[in-house]
Amino acid sequence: MFGPRKSLASVTQHAEGHALAKTLSWPHLIALGVGAIVGTGIYTLTGVGAERAGPAVILAFAIAGAVCACAALAYAELATMIPAAGSAYTFSYAALGETIAWIVGWSLVLEYSLACSTVAVGWSGYLVGWIQSAGIHLPAALLVGPHGGGIVNLPAVAVALTVMGMLIAGTRESATLNIILVIIKLVALGVFVTFALPAFNADNLHPFMPYGFGSTELGGEKRGVMAAAAIVFFAFYGFDAVATSAEEAKRPGRDLTIGIVGSMLVCTVIYMAVAIAAVGALPFQQLANSPEPLALVLRSLGQPLAGHLIALAAVIALPSVILVMMYGQSRIFFVMARDGLLPRRLAAVSPRTGAPTLITLLTGVGIAVVAGLFPLDKIAELANAGTLIAFIAVGASMMVLRRTAPEMPRLFRCPAPYVVGTLAILGCIYLLFSLPSSTLTYCVLWNAIGLIVYFAFGRRTSIVRRNAAA
Ligand code: ALA
Repeated sequence: MFGPRKSLASVTQHAEGHALAKTLSWPHLIALGVGAIVGTGIYTLTGVGAERAGPAVILAFAIAGAVCACAALAYAELATMIPAAGSAYTFSYAALGETIAWIVGWSLVLEYSLACSTVAVGWSGYLVGWIQSAGIHLPAALLVGPHGGGIVNLPAVAVALTVMGMLIAGTRESATLNIILVIIKLVALGVFVTFALPAFNADNLHPFMPYGFGSTELGGEKRGVMAAAAIVFFAFYGFDAVATSAEEAKRPGRDLTIGIVGSMLVCTVIYMAVAIAAVGALPFQQLANSPEPLALVLRSLGQPLAGHLIALAAVIALPSVILVMMYGQSRIFFVMARDGLLPRRLAAVSPRTGAPTLITLLTGVGIAVVAGLFPLDKIAELANAGTLIAFIAVGASMMVLRRTAPEMPRLFRCPAPYVVGTLAILGCIYLLFSLPSSTLTYCVLWNAIGLIVYFAFGRRTSIVRRNAAA
């Protein structure tokens, strides 16, 4: 009913010239994971979350983290069982059939590319604030897109294109640089907690849930703990980018398990600490909608130098998030092209770097255009919608393959798979419907366009379908 499935045996075998080089081991992968996970979500969206939920943004982080942890466990099982590029798309192709795989692949485009664009816009905000605080004035029309009265967000475009160039230069170099940037981000968050936690005031936590729990429309905006969870969910994903690099892992079993589950756990602990420190230090109304909530907290506590350092760390290190997400995006397109669902010449790999050059170029330019023209919050919400669809498919694929391929070796076995898989699916559905209705409408439209492309092109040129018919 959902089209042919990819045979599990074929998933790891590819024609010469179309296989990616095996260059990554677990330190690279955990750095890829944390590099993709810690970013604009904790640095910027903490304030938006506080505005939607009040102090209960702490709870929102816990809920989003718990849902992601279930999805991460399912990911880890599938990524070690199917160590081929493409993550949720490839898993769905093997478990659920081609049509669902297409929808997942098309949704992953929203996730990865819009997450890159979101972080590029967030980075631009920090950079511009930094430069202007030094008394240098830049032409306003080149700092914001048409939605804000400007022409284009030039810094956001520039950072997206720079990262694209790094990826084209080769995976290995990019991943190594990423490790340094990850350390900078984590040290900055450590500094934040160290300065903010001593100022903890329990009065700031009352009332804890001023807008209630469920996501409801209040004053023209969705509010409540779940509305905040649906936004700060952005802060958690990225670990799936590790799964997209499975084909390039030297020892997938050990490397991917440590990479995915490890980076998820590290980030959940850090976010809880940062959120408690932030809403404990200041009344949540002061955090709400700040473009730089963590720096704001430190300045308000009389620590301007620490505030500057946090901002500087964001400017230096946020590009690592773009790096990892853009890497993931180019690999998704790569695999879809290799499968014949997109034009196959897009999947050619550079003999020099082992990276798919053309697809990386196209992906990077698309990301730069969106970052240059659209507002941050809208891009982030749509990225979340795409991610949630992919996570639902991952939970389902893990459970289906337990039934249809029980004999396949699993280097990592998800504990209580049917409970974890069901929780991942239900949690993601709840988060999806806690997003603004306009976001859901755009998401449906995006996938409607995707299905038109699929039925007009991909379905006819699909290699799996052709082999199934032969
Ligand atoms: N989790 C990533 C971030 O927060 C996408 O920037």
